[in-house]
Amino acid sequence: MKFPLFSAALVVGVLAQDSFEPVNFNITEALVDNGVNISAIPELANLAERSLLSGCSIGCNSLKLIFGDDQVETQSEPAYATFIGAFWSAQQREISPQCIFKPKKALDVSTAVLISRLTQCPFAVKSGGHSAVPGGSNVDGGITVSFEKMNLVSASPDKKTVSFQPGNTWFSVYSALESQNLAVIGGRVSSVGVGGLTLGGGVSFFSSMYGLACDNVLSYELVTASGIIINVSQNSFPDIYWALRGGGNNFGIVTQFNVAAIPRAPTMWGGSRVYLADAFPALIDAYYNLGVKAKVDGKAHQILSFAWSQVQLATVELEYADPVPNAPVMAEYNAIPGAIVDQTAVRSLAELTVLLEGPASGSGLRQAFWTWTMKLNKGMANVTKNIFFEELNAVLDVAGLLPAVSLQVITDPILERTSVRGGNPLGLSPNDGPLMNVLVAAKWENKADDTRINKFAAKVKDRVLAVATAKVKAHPYLYMNYASPWQNPIASYGAANKARLEAISKKYDPAGVFKKLQPGYFKLDGPPLSGSP
Ligand SMILES: Cc1cc2nc3c(=O)[nH]c(=O)nc-3n(C[C@H](O)[C@H](O)[C@H](O)COP(=O)(O)OP(=O)(O)OC[C@H]3O[C@@H](n4cnc5c(N)ncnc54)[C@H](O)[C@@H]3O)c2cc1C
Ligand SMILES: *[C@@H]1O[C@H](CO)[C@@H](O)[C@H](O)[C@H]1NC(C)=O
Ligand SMILES: *[C@@H]1O[C@H](CO)[C@@H](O)[C@H](O)[C@H]1NC(C)=O
Ligand SMILES: *[C@@H]1O[C@H](CO)[C@@H](O)[C@H](O)[C@H]1NC(C)=O
Ligand SMILES: *[C@@H]1O[C@H](CO)[C@@H](O)[C@H](O)[C@H]1NC(C)=O
Repeated sequence: MKFPLFSAALVVGVLAQDSFEPVNFNITEALVDNGVNISAIPELANLAERSLLSGCSIGCNSLKLIFGDDQVETQSEPAYATFIGAFWSAQQREISPQCIFKPKKALDVSTAVLISRLTQCPFAVKSGGHSAVPGGSNVDGGITVSFEKMNLVSASPDKKTVSFQPGNTWFSVYSALESQNLAVIGGRVSSVGVGGLTLGGGVSFFSSMYGLACDNVLSYELVTASGIIINVSQNSFPDIYWALRGGGNNFGIVTQFNVAAIPRAPTMWGGSRVYLADAFPALIDAYYNLGVKAKVDGKAHQILSFAWSQVQLATVELEYADPVPNAPVMAEYNAIPGAIVDQTAVRSLAELTVLLEGPASGSGLRQAFWTWTMKLNKGMANVTKNIFFEELNAVLDVAGLLPAVSLQVITDPILERTSVRGGNPLGLSPNDGPLMNVLVAAKWENKADDTRINKFAAKVKDRVLAVATAKVKAHPYLYMNYASPWQNPIASYGAANKARLEAISKKYDPAGVFKKLQPGYFKLDGPPLSGSP
């Protein structure tokens, strides 16, 4: 079997023409190079000859013939239902792919991309399946790629780097590293996947020490649009390395992330506290002050949320990277009296992600995420809270509604680290900081309420941003991992970064495979839905 790994020399030759894929690229020949016996699959052989017809049934049949029943689930199989039932949002569970493909290695992913191209059958790839965007990681009638058989986690012998494949959740990664007193920069909730979070940015408990998850990736193993498997780092394909650090699913399928390992004590301090409305002013003060102090002590982390459950509530999630319950930087928060729930304690990182998963992650409910960014500012935090509760009154009759607005801080140290290793495309600068990241998240029961809830969230955003704009506190950045399908994170990165991303896409994916054949999620030329809800 020929392995389609180009030698560095050959790659340089290809790049000299400024396109990664030859003009006369032959998909059939690439499949043969991958070890696929085309003549053993009459449907595919005929298709190749005629080179027409779209056909997901041909695509899925071919995958089954090449890889066997163990790697392909069709709609009648129990494993199909199990897979679909594991998506986080109800909206993604409503999508029915023609088949689910479970690659075991990068070469299998390459073959799937080529089969998709040959049959013109669309695909989606699912890591943890926690995207709130319908169709973000599942595709109606197409091939949904599940990474569940690609779940390696390993630390290098010198403990400086960690490699993990996209079949992991953050819980599986942290659990595997715990005994070696290591961790990586990743998610804060156990069931979230490594793939989507890392490709869109990635905020961790330790981000004020080390930066975003994307800024801690040293190299990616990537399957390109032509099915070529490349190693992407600052020294090898630096343009696509830059693009992958926030560019989402537009540039290829990552089959392995190699990231900086961070040394960890076995335990840390953290958890959630819940307060009633009388504590709101003190919480907003503490939120602002802790956000500003990230420069002084980056071990602290916080998320301040306002929510509704029969009454107005605030939940603050506080963490400290060491097993210290009373770090000086936390003194202001720790002095706020009246918590009606307090789950803060010393525990391991993996345990903390399980605690934060809790029932609150609402797996299986209908979900909406909306986001925007402002300067870190007490007045704007207060305005955000006020407008959220005002607008909420109009939707409180929605069945099963669990609404929240969460305030985080894109701290000065996080902003400073966006420029390491050649920088990333997010368009964030330390000169703008610190920034306040806002997430309106809602869960509810019935599809009939989808539009109302999305209109509610959009209105909160629009009203708050109008105030922020008037006070010169608005910032254009939209965090991809929290964006609604009507928002355009790529455009928010700025015109120059967007143009650079488009040029890189043209070079590595001249046929537009990741745009046309992988239609879900935030594309370079726009978000999945246009207009407003
Ligand atoms: C309960 C919950 C907790 C969260 N906590 C955090 C947090 O602590 N920090 C934070 O920053 N964000 C957090 N998020 C947001 C999170 O980053 C996004 O939801 C993210 O998309 C989840 O990644 P995933 O792999 O689970 O999603 P998926 O739905 O599997 O993937 C999301 C997108 O990434 C693409 N993708 C996934 N893997 C690959 C790959 N290997 N190659 C190419 N494309 C790929 C998919 O095609 C899809 O378009 C949270 C979300 C939820 C629901
Ligand atoms: C691709 O290569 C195959 C096998 O060599 C050949 O039969 C086919 O005609 C080629 N297709 C195109 C579009 O050139
Ligand atoms: C490819 O498949 C054909 C048809 O089934 C078979 O005759 C041939 O031996 C196969 N070739 C290889 C290399 O396995
Ligand atoms: C990618 O690079 C890493 C680190 O340099 C190396 O260990 C690995 O073998 C490379 N993978 C491929 C497919 O070349
Ligand atoms: C916050 O908003 C409330 C409601 O409008 C207002 O009464 C209060 O004074 C504001 N607090 C601050 C610190 O701006």
